[in-house]
Amino acid sequence: MMVKRKIIIDCDPGIDDALVIALALHSPQLEILGITTVAGNKELEKTSANAIRTLEYFGRTDIAVYVGAGKPLVRDLNVPQESSHGKDGLGDAGLPGPKRQAKPNALGFMKDALKKYPGEVTILATGPLTNIALLLQDVDSSAIRELFIMNGAFKVRGNVTEFAEYNAFIDPEAARIVYSSGIPTKVVGLDVTNNVAVTREEFVMMKQIDTPQAHFFTMTHDWATTRKQKERYAIFWDPLALMWMLVPTMIHGQMGKIEVEAVGEKTGQTTFSSGPGSVYVGETVNAAQFFDHLHKFLKFGEVV
Ligand code: RIB
Ligand code: CA
Repeated sequence: MMVKRKIIIDCDPGIDDALVIALALHSPQLEILGITTVAGNKELEKTSANAIRTLEYFGRTDIAVYVGAGKPLVRDLNVPQESSHGKDGLGDAGLPGPKRQAKPNALGFMKDALKKYPGEVTILATGPLTNIALLLQDVDSSAIRELFIMNGAFKVRGNVTEFAEYNAFIDPEAARIVYSSGIPTKVVGLDVTNNVAVTREEFVMMKQIDTPQAHFFTMTHDWATTRKQKERYAIFWDPLALMWMLVPTMIHGQMGKIEVEAVGEKTGQTTFSSGPGSVYVGETVNAAQFFDHLHKFLKFGEVV
């Protein structure tokens, strides 16, 4: 009998965060203790509602959503007007709901979970790291088994400024705290996610798959693949952090430390130095392997 990995998903849905939730719901490896939300792609009310809308779509109202930080640690929240996530944060796909309210006090939930399962809980963080930084003010880093994070741009341009990736840009102070915590951490940055992309034609083919999960994916991601004409759409930012957890051979990189810039034009810049450290930064990815798993999910609802 396989022992499931206990996880908390801390997220800011967001179309790719929503795909993470959908994939995680279908993985036999995982026991989802709960979902916590943070302001990031959209304001907290929307990201929380979107987490619930996603769970309701898949009939999983057994999983609770807890509302977290409504703004970064020390700076204001500046949500871009225009993004891949559409106005509602789920690609303006017209998904119903939410029918229920999120619960308050994400930090209280996280602390209770870590107290109940000391050293056993993995946190998958796919939004700005505000909640995790706040959590680390109250719990010892040894309470957390491991972090999987989508964050940063190391040897490639950022996607907010030329220097900064979105999650690091929104809350660089939180990222600094998390990266210096000593928790075993795996980081997926744009260096990895830029290499996993679909063409519009490939996406249209995916729209032919007649399953609820494929409809969810293509409905929420359609805007991201039509808003701008591009050769390829590298839109699997957060799912790559989850798939790395589920398929450890999918991504390889180096161990070391991450510095985060928090002032001036380079705010949000993440600089990696290899060597002793607790942070393992992904550098190469087997994109074919990722798409094999994505297609198994879309067609058969199977996730490793
Ligand atoms: O830079 C990619 C990150 O920001 C992902 O978490 C995605 O949700 C985007 O908003
Ligand atoms: Ca996200």
